[in-house]
Amino acid sequence: MNTSLYKVALSKSFSWDAAKQINALVGGTRGSGKSFFALGALVQLASFPRFDESKLLGIGTLPTPIFTIDFKNSDIARLGELLPKKRVAVNKKEAIAVLTHFDQLMHRRLKVIRDYSFGATASKLKMPLYYLIIDEWSATNAAFMSGMTKADKDLRYRWQALIQDISMLGRAAGFGLIVISQQISVTNSGISSAVQEEAGLKLHFGDAEMSSYRLTFGNEVQIPDVQLNVGEAFAWIEGVTSSGYVIPFAAPYGDAANIWNILTQALASQDDDYYLDYRLR
Ligand SMILES: Nc1ncnc2c1ncn2[C@@H]1O[C@H](COP(=O)(O)OP(=O)(O)OP(=O)(O)O)[C@@H](O)[C@H]1O
Ligand SMILES: [Mg+2]
Repeated sequence: MNTSLYKVALSKSFSWDAAKQINALVGGTRGSGKSFFALGALVQLASFPRFDESKLLGIGTLPTPIFTIDFKNSDIARLGELLPKKRVAVNKKEAIAVLTHFDQLMHRRLKVIRDYSFGATASKLKMPLYYLIIDEWSATNAAFMSGMTKADKDLRYRWQALIQDISMLGRAAGFGLIVISQQISVTNSGISSAVQEEAGLKLHFGDAEMSSYRLTFGNEVQIPDVQLNVGEAFAWIEGVTSSGYVIPFAAPYGDAANIWNILTQALASQDDDYYLDYRLR
């Protein structure tokens, strides 16, 4: 049994360890259930740990502070109503502010961790994780790649440097990324190799051509002959599925009417500073 404090259920039968697989890539065509899945994952992250498999909400003694970038200004951006300041970005300027904030918190966390024993990590110390969710990566990245003014170039440089820093140092600090994009393949998604290399979880939502799944997961992995619907995905998890088949699953959360209520409960104890040096005893 997986008794990790950082367990996010992907379905009733298997889960993602958000401390071990610190970065996640979520792909799939329009309307396949990516953002919806992210909201369900966010509820679980924000209310860690979660021992009762029958409930989406955990007991919340190790809550994950949540940060988001959502240029589509959709469901995820609405979380601004529930989150502290500098947590939600819908344009380039705000995205840099959120990323800078997240990165600074990460460096403060790393400093805290260094004061414990050699080789300590956030998860070994039972500290809360911090997560940044970037919805619509391709559109976001494209926005940063365009523009030739000095201000554009400055934002572009900072975007790339911050993403690089967070993906390199996030694991020890317990600072993770969930990157959502229609296309998450290594070659043509524009997702930097630093993010790709640290991605321990890859999900591909919805029905697609085999060639499309191949782009996501590569040629070494077996893809079962199963047709996926909205809210269903194939999962590759580092160390779990790396040598065999990707696992099909149905995202557990389907209660659209009640989600705002659940998000409100899940995000009740968000704080920037308090959780940097907090340990579950
Ligand atoms: N797990 C689920 N259970 C029930 N309904 C779902 C589920 N996932 C998605 N849906 C339905 O499908 C719709 C589209 O899902 P979602 O917005 O998550 O897609 P998406 O992949 O983010 O699409 P886009 O690329 O357009 O942003 C949702 O509004 C919801 O009605
Ligand atoms: Mg979406």
